[in-house]
Amino acid sequence: MVIPRRDTTVSEAARVDRPAPESLGYDLVDRPASPPVPNGWYAAIDTASLPAGAVEPFVAVERELVAFRDGHGDAHVLDAHCPHMGAHLGGGSVSDDTLQCPYHGWRFGGDGTCVEIPYSTTRIPSRACVTSYPVHERDGLVLFWFHATGTPPTYEVPTFDEAHDPDWTGPTVFRREFVASLQDMAENNIDYTHFFFVHGRNALDESTSRFHTDGPFSTVVETFEDEGLTFTRFTYGPGVALLRIPDLATVLTTTTPIDRRHVRLLWHFYFPPGVGDTPEVADAIVEGVVGDHGLGADQPIWRDKVFRERPLLVRGDGPIVEFRRWYEQFYEGSRPADAGAGS
Ligand code: FES
Ligand SMILES: [Fe+2]
Repeated sequence: MVIPRRDTTVSEAARVDRPAPESLGYDLVDRPASPPVPNGWYAAIDTASLPAGAVEPFVAVERELVAFRDGHGDAHVLDAHCPHMGAHLGGGSVSDDTLQCPYHGWRFGGDGTCVEIPYSTTRIPSRACVTSYPVHERDGLVLFWFHATGTPPTYEVPTFDEAHDPDWTGPTVFRREFVASLQDMAENNIDYTHFFFVHGRNALDESTSRFHTDGPFSTVVETFEDEGLTFTRFTYGPGVALLRIPDLATVLTTTTPIDRRHVRLLWHFYFPPGVGDTPEVADAIVEGVVGDHGLGADQPIWRDKVFRERPLLVRGDGPIVEFRRWYEQFYEGSRPADAGAGS
């Protein structure tokens, strides 16, 4: 199974491998700052990669973090550095329901509070705690909630049927890290024109496509009539989305900002009967989505581009203004109110 596409060499020049501009160390004046990290649920790690007693350090939302699973099977996400003398808790170990620092053995509960200083009779100082992030584990993922002001979760990520249907196969796990700003990636999904120039697909008839919003959720439906393909993407805040390609695959996609210019993808592909039991078909679908004509074609664009607060939009650019209005809600508390989406 190969997802049909228009043959093109239009974007070959953009695919030339070269370092991200900022990594060259030049002091440039024409590269405005990327948007801050939006508030929302993000993937910390696969459930399968965090067995009982495991401790896994990771970097996300411009911070060093650590995930661990306690003796009751509950997953937790904490800031990585110990309040005592700053050791990295990623080198620690799980003891009962606590994470024990590798340096002097202070023990922290899943809520980040220090519950024991094993060598001291001093009362535990009230400031002896690390920031703890709300965790929500479902459908094979450990999600954590980030908010610039520490506000508790304002929405939930729904589950989906394919993950629990015994007739479906999955997940096939896909991971990748690269240079991109999170919002640039997100806008790609409603940037109809780029499908032609970047992905070599036939031009998308805007009248066959839709963009809906519902609070922190949005839905994009894109129909490529010539190819008989419809992509429906349900987006749950800035970090999690579900992509359905009827009869081919459902993909749980998470995109986690490492910092303002780097992202980490953790995607789970699920395949329906007739697809999942034919590995070469399933492989071709994954390749179509993430290979040179899919995600791989977008990456050089995201790596090199700057984020325009006020892009020069023209008719045919798709619902980018509507998308930005929707996306602005996730920046609450993370940037001045007057630094809006622009249009
Ligand atoms: S630095 Fe963590 S216990 Fe001392
Ligand atoms: Fe794209």
